Amino acid sequence: MHAVVRHPLLQHRLAILRATKTAPKLFRELVREMTFFLAYEALRDLPTVPVAVRTPMGDADGVKVAGHLVVAPILRAGMGMLEPMLEILPYATAGVIGTRRDETTAEPIPYYLNLPRPFPDSLVVLLDPMLATGGSVCDAIVTLKKHGFPRIVFLNLISCPEGIARLEREHPDVPVYTAAIDDHLDARHYIVPGLGDAGDRLFGTL
Ligand code: PRP
Ligand code: URA
Repeated sequence: MHAVVRHPLLQHRLAILRATKTAPKLFRELVREMTFFLAYEALRDLPTVPVAVRTPMGDADGVKVAGHLVVAPILRAGMGMLEPMLEILPYATAGVIGTRRDETTAEPIPYYLNLPRPFPDSLVVLLDPMLATGGSVCDAIVTLKKHGFPRIVFLNLISCPEGIARLEREHPDVPVYTAAIDDHLDARHYIVPGLGDAGDRLFGTL
């Protein structure tokens, strides 16, 4: 399942994010704000349990989010989405998945992994701003499943038809929430029109 989140406040930010002239500081702020919009949509059906609340005026019925939530960025670029997710899910644990693409083949090369302990009700919110060939996210999902995390939702800023197709073919159980499905991949496996290299733009390493 894939969903394109079309909220105008998200799409407004996406246009600025893409622009070549957008410098790293603003780029990071936009990634942070856009992550909130994606999260609201993707976590709409989080389980809750009822709680009783005493207000200054009486008693109210409330809810509390239930279950174990894990926030997992794919390094490097996913780091930009980690802090905003922990802001809205302060009780979540974090796992880190280090993967980089081989420059010629675009095959994912895993280089770091640190995951929390899985629970039967764990839900992993996997974070990566770019979904190109789908190699990195599919590799991350295989790793998560191998480590006992079967429930995963993927938050993404820019995708393309090739990446969506691969993700849905290899992991139909993992929904992806994205702000855009762009036109195509170029010969170097970059998303067109995309925004270039998300890690470089986030960290100023162009
Ligand atoms: C980028 C991006 C994704 C991946 C997407 O990372 O952040 O992880 O490429 O491409 P794919 O769908 O073809 O796998 P990159 O490998 O450039 O590493 P970086 O974030 O460290 O720059
Ligand atoms: N990774 C990026 O950062 N950008 C792309 O367009 C493709 C992969």
